[in-house]
Amino acid sequence: MFDDSLETLRKRRSAKWRTYPADVLPLAVAEMDCSLAPPITAALREAVDAADTGYSAAQPDLGAAIAGFAARRWGWELDPAAITAVADVGVGVVELLRMLTRPADAVVISPPVYPPFFQWPVEAGAQLREVPLTADFRLDLPALEAAFAAHPAVYVLCNPHNPVGRVHTHDELAALVRLARLYGVTIVSDEIHAPLVLPGAEFTPLLSIPGAAQVAVSVVSASKAFNLAGLKCAAIVTGDPAMAALVERFPHDVRWRTGHFGVLATVAAFTEGDAWLDELLTELDARRAELGEHLRTRLPKVGWLPPEATYLAWLDCRALGEDDEPRELFLSQGRVGLEPGTRFGARGASYVRLNFGTSADILDEATARMARVTAG
Ligand SMILES: Cc1ncc(COP(=O)(O)O)c(C=O)c1O
Repeated sequence: MFDDSLETLRKRRSAKWRTYPADVLPLAVAEMDCSLAPPITAALREAVDAADTGYSAAQPDLGAAIAGFAARRWGWELDPAAITAVADVGVGVVELLRMLTRPADAVVISPPVYPPFFQWPVEAGAQLREVPLTADFRLDLPALEAAFAAHPAVYVLCNPHNPVGRVHTHDELAALVRLARLYGVTIVSDEIHAPLVLPGAEFTPLLSIPGAAQVAVSVVSASKAFNLAGLKCAAIVTGDPAMAALVERFPHDVRWRTGHFGVLATVAAFTEGDAWLDELLTELDARRAELGEHLRTRLPKVGWLPPEATYLAWLDCRALGEDDEPRELFLSQGRVGLEPGTRFGARGASYVRLNFGTSADILDEATARMARVTAG
């Protein structure tokens, strides 16, 4: 599934392949270099052949597909009718924040975290509060309790967590839910990376925690695991009438903004994509091991904690420079494009995020280039 040559990949016109000059290996933007899962290709081809290119009508197929996938993969029983399609995860989170906050309200996030987490509360007109992860990249529950005691409106959870790859445990999430209930904070759980939990870790859907449904809402998507980001489909999942009522208050037009091809591809992915996804996870597990070996032998000054999920590696380059100097070094001299750590918050200084959702050969070449500019 990572069989395409660089020459073929460079013909792609998506952001990953348009962000850097042609001599740079792009390992920044979170798109994978894989081929599409065959059921997705078939669904999209069928739609093109039938000129089926109108507005999306997501339900009931999307709800049934997500509920089936959640039950099979995670033992999470959810109501297919309690699912609302949105254009993407960002739109879903921002619309939820608009419903859940007033201008003086605070929204808490835990950096280092996916850069739009810093923007979504601002876009919704609320105030941002940061409660960083602990030094070993876990939820800092005592610090979160202190922050929740000041009664922020919302905590936006990243589960699993981008960029550190942490899969929060059942106990951590249960403790988070207890705090949310105690202090009246609503949790919005971004679970876009959930299908990408790698061997060795187990995903806990937040809404599967007893008592969570009354204080939490989740946003899910097939777009990361099945590489569908450009097709524009994600879904909000609720498990309680009060939370469902929030979604019902969305402006009427929101549901018209979801991509029709996104819905068709997501239904195919979540209905018929399990075998392909299992193969992908095996590949990513191998790539994670290869990256660990390359770092150990070629880049000994670079530290990392192997991610438990995703194809993103959070690399500690503090021995190589300050702020974004390591990223600049790898880009300008090594011709490898990586995501600068500072985009993920102040504690990302001297880190870079590397996308290993690619072939063994490209990862080999990228780490060899990185090693050449750090030698000596
Ligand atoms: C945690 C997280 N949330 C959301 C997104 C973006 O999702 P969407 O394109 O559906 O807004 C990403 C993309 O990498 C992500 O890592």
